[in-house]
Amino acid sequence: MDKFVIKGGSPLKGIIPVSGSKNAALPLMAASLLGNTASTLKNIPRLKDIYTFNNVIRVVGAQVTFHEDENTLIIDPENVNHLEAPYDLVRKMRASFYMLGALVGKHGYAKVSLPGGCAWGPRPVDLHLKGMEAMGIDISLEKGYVIAKAPDKVAGGTFKLEPSSVGATVNLLLASVLKAKEFIIENAAKEPDVVQLCNHLVSMGANIEGIGTGTLTIRAVDELKGIEVANDPDRIELGTFMILGAMLPETELKLTGCNPEHLGSFTKKLRETGATINIDGTTIDIKAPETLKPVSIKTQIYPGFPTDLQAQWATMMTQAEGESKVTDTVYFDRFSYVPELTRLGAELDVEKNTVHISGKTPLTGASVMSTDLRASVSLVLAALVAENTTEVLRIYHLDRGYEALEDKLQAVGAHIERVDEES
Ligand code: EPU
Repeated sequence: MDKFVIKGGSPLKGIIPVSGSKNAALPLMAASLLGNTASTLKNIPRLKDIYTFNNVIRVVGAQVTFHEDENTLIIDPENVNHLEAPYDLVRKMRASFYMLGALVGKHGYAKVSLPGGCAWGPRPVDLHLKGMEAMGIDISLEKGYVIAKAPDKVAGGTFKLEPSSVGATVNLLLASVLKAKEFIIENAAKEPDVVQLCNHLVSMGANIEGIGTGTLTIRAVDELKGIEVANDPDRIELGTFMILGAMLPETELKLTGCNPEHLGSFTKKLRETGATINIDGTTIDIKAPETLKPVSIKTQIYPGFPTDLQAQWATMMTQAEGESKVTDTVYFDRFSYVPELTRLGAELDVEKNTVHISGKTPLTGASVMSTDLRASVSLVLAALVAENTTEVLRIYHLDRGYEALEDKLQAVGAHIERVDEES
């Protein structure tokens, strides 16, 4: 197991390229299974979750070739013949559950393990299943597996997502584009990841109306073809580096290859801290303010403040002059980073789904433990501010979602090293 050893306290300056988005890539990969021919996906990050999903896709019989040097993935679905996604793989990554929609949508049958628990409480998949049932797909549960059957086209109907869900919208799109005569998803997710998937499916030949709105109407087509597409840049990685640029005194970062429009309300909030943000096409320059102002946020679905940036924001707020609050309305107990930040000297209190932060507190190096992807990157941010040396343990969480993080940070002057936990 690897850990990061980080010596903090010095400003960072330079250019950081933003990688392709993990959460946008996974739906594209699943959609490739719906095609009659191979798809070529570009700008795919080299991340553990991508490798895991490659293996899930291989298990069902598809041919997967990852040209890692070029971040290009080729998925050929021609020989898919084993319509099952086993627990061993699905438990490693919840998004493997997208196999349910992709397999039943194309082949009329799927047997996919239920994903099980998650590091921050229950993350149900009831809407994925109820939506498929509403569409006319037969769903049953057997020994921890979901079995979906729909040998012929199904009628479709209307299904309202309450709450709006990225994953359920993706799975219902995958299931319906080849299967449902007319299916309407109400309160559909509008996240850029979903918009990209819809546009991609349309390029493959699908019929989807209302893309980018809360109501999607899908009318089944008889076949989809494989195509070439460039995956979107990662908006959460971008937001993470913007927070770093704002929170570390005297820091100036240039973030390249990004899509600033995908940040929703985040940029406006970050400007309220006093950070200077200049956007020029696909590049964002960010400069830390002399005094970081406290700014409270509440997570919402897109275009609201993303839940995947709340831990990083709370970490930044430990360096703001005053009191602030971070409330997560999407997940109610995603605060496992709080006790770890406290070990570094931060003052945070969790009350229900809100964390109260008192700043500014000096942070001092210690050993801290990663508990999930966004929590672990927050500990890296804190370590870069902290005096002395911090060890961030169990960074395998971080490797799921941040491509070459230590290389990118070293290039702008950070003292960060990956070492074996035993050493
Ligand atoms: N929900 C239900 N029932 C369902 C599905 C969701 O009640 O069947 C609830 C959830 O409990 C949650 C809300 O709906 O309260 C929204 O969850 P959503 O389904 O949108 O989340 P997800 O699709 O499981 C994706 C991202 C997450 C990100 C969330 C919210 C991927 C692979 N994962 O998860 O990303 O936090 O959307 O934006 O796209 C991460 O990257 O660190 C991460 C966890």
